[in-house]
Amino acid sequence: MLLPLSLMFTVAISATQTVYDDYFGTPKTTNVSKQTTPSKDTKNVGKDELSPFIKKQNKVIEKDGKSYIENEDNLLILANKDYLMQPTYAPNDLIVPDVQFSFGDKSIEKAHMRRAAGMALKDFFAGAKTAGFDLYAVSGYRSYKRQQEVFSAEVKRVGDKKAREAVAYPGTSEHQTGLAMDISSRSQGFNLTAAFGNTKEGKWAKENAHKYGFILRYPEGKEKITKYQYEAWHFRYVGKEAATIIYKQDWTLEEFFEQVKKLQKKAAND
Ligand code: DAL
Ligand code: ZN
Repeated sequence: MLLPLSLMFTVAISATQTVYDDYFGTPKTTNVSKQTTPSKDTKNVGKDELSPFIKKQNKVIEKDGKSYIENEDNLLILANKDYLMQPTYAPNDLIVPDVQFSFGDKSIEKAHMRRAAGMALKDFFAGAKTAGFDLYAVSGYRSYKRQQEVFSAEVKRVGDKKAREAVAYPGTSEHQTGLAMDISSRSQGFNLTAAFGNTKEGKWAKENAHKYGFILRYPEGKEKITKYQYEAWHFRYVGKEAATIIYKQDWTLEEFFEQVKKLQKKAAND
């Protein structure tokens, strides 16, 4: 069968990606086409813009060769493979955001987010609706215990190495902070797929999340920095100011705090 040139090109550069779907508990395989990122109105960020975040950095305590975050309630928490939360940490201001979910029972853990994040999510989804797009919340807060279950299931499915690229080791997941929400669309069957990033809903979410205080936390092309595979669906609340800087500079949260630390060091030396 002869394919038009453009379609052949798309087929040639597409990659097969499998992701663990927390809601359905089944692996999904999706063909993902690479696409160029639209150029942004970037400008250098000034020290006045970054300096308020010096006090929002992780406060860390070293124990057994690991770095534990002491100020876990910080809305700007940097939870990743290098900075852990205690297994006992759970936010004490969880709410059920007033948004559309991909599932019915809102009493369950994953329907929750911290208050500030949940209120902002409501505005984010309402903004999408006004622009003509329906977003669905799929997976929010996960306790340490639930993350253990999700992680073990993924290890069983794909082995330890592959699992660690897709699912956070218990104690390191942003879902434990209550500040992250996995988002999808009807066209993706409410599943968490990289292909969501190519849908009109996914594109709108990526380009507008910052206006509501969210960032796309694991962007394509930044895998070496975040140490996770591209996740078109995982949005993290950081507040409008930080989100706007991160979006405009094309940074990850790691890069943002690297710059904040540099500024702090420079200020100390001046
Ligand atoms: N999938 C993200 C990295 C998590 O498990 O927190
Ligand atoms: Zn997620």
